Amino acid sequence: MTGSSLATMSRQLSLSLNLLSFLVIYSTLAACAQTNRTIDDQFGDQVTALVPVYSPATAWKQGANCTDCLVNPLVSQAFKGTWHQGLHTAGDVESTVVTVSFRGTAVYAYCVLANTISYSNTPTNLNFRLNNTIVGTFVHTPDASTTFIYNVPVYVNTSIPNGLHTFEIEATGNTSLVMFDYLTYTYVTPNFLMRWR
Ligand SMILES: *[C@@H]1O[C@H](CO)[C@@H](O)[C@H](O)[C@H]1NC(C)=O
Ligand SMILES: *[C@@H]1O[C@H](CO)[C@@H](O)[C@H](O)[C@H]1NC(C)=O
Ligand SMILES: *[C@@H]1O[C@H](CO)[C@@H](O)[C@H](O)[C@H]1NC(C)=O
Ligand SMILES: *[C@@H]1O[C@H](CO)[C@@H](O)[C@H](O)[C@H]1NC(C)=O
Ligand SMILES: *[C@@H]1O[C@H](CO)[C@@H](O)[C@H](O)[C@H]1NC(C)=O
Repeated sequence: MTGSSLATMSRQLSLSLNLLSFLVIYSTLAACAQTNRTIDDQFGDQVTALVPVYSPATAWKQGANCTDCLVNPLVSQAFKGTWHQGLHTAGDVESTVVTVSFRGTAVYAYCVLANTISYSNTPTNLNFRLNNTIVGTFVHTPDASTTFIYNVPVYVNTSIPNGLHTFEIEATGNTSLVMFDYLTYTYVTPNFLMRWR
C-alpha cells in the first residue's frame, strides 16, 4: 500500500466517524427535546423541588398518615405513598385550592376518587385554571360501591403554549372531596441548551 492511499483511507475513516458522531449527537438531542416531569403532592417537583401550595391550610391534610379521616384510600396505591386530602363544604366562603407552577407544554393532573363511605361526603367537583383562566371542570358522582379509584387523570391539556404557568385545581360551590396525588408536565429543553451540547 502506498503512503497516499493510506492517507485517503484514513481521511475516509475520519469522515465516516464524524458522520457517525453527528448522527449520535443529533439523535440524542432529538430524544432529549421533550421530557415529562412529575410534581408529587408532598415531595414536589422531581427537578425544581417546588412544592404545591394548599389553601386554605385548614382545609387540607396529608392523607397517608391521617389518623382522624373517615376516607382512607390505600397508601400503597398512591404515587410515592402520599396524597393531599381536602374537603370543601357547600357554604364555605373560601375555595379549596391546590396551586402548582411549572414551565412546559402539557399538563396531566391525577387524583384519587372515592365512592360511598359512611358518614362522609365523597363527590368530587373541580375547576381547573391556567394563569387564572378556567380551562376545564371535572365531576365524579359516587356510585353505591365502596371502591376507591386511583391514578385518575382529572385534567389533561397537551396544547398549552410553552412557558411558565400557574395551574390551580379548585373546589368551590358544592361540597367536594379533593384527593390530589400528583401532576405530570412536559418540559421542553430550551434551544440554547441544545446548541451548546
Ligand atoms: C408524558 O406523559 C403522558 C401521560 O402518561 C404521555 O401520554 C406522554 O406521551 C408523555 N410525554 C413524553 C414526552 O414522554
Ligand atoms: C403527616 O405527614 C405530614 C408531612 O410529612 C406532616 O406534616 C404531618 O405532621 C403528619 N401528620 C401526622 C398526624 O403524623
Ligand atoms: C389548554 O390550554 C389552553 C391555553 O391555556 C387553552 O386555551 C385550552 O382551552 C386548553 N385546552 C383544554 C383541552 O383544556
Ligand atoms: C402565566 O403567568 C406567568 C406569571 O404571571 C407569566 O410569566 C407567563 O408568561 C404566563 N404564561 C402565559 C402562557 O401567558
Ligand atoms: C352543584 O351540583 C348541582 C347538581 O350536580 C349542579 O347542577 C350545580 O351546577 C352545582 N353547582 C356548582 C356551583 O358547582
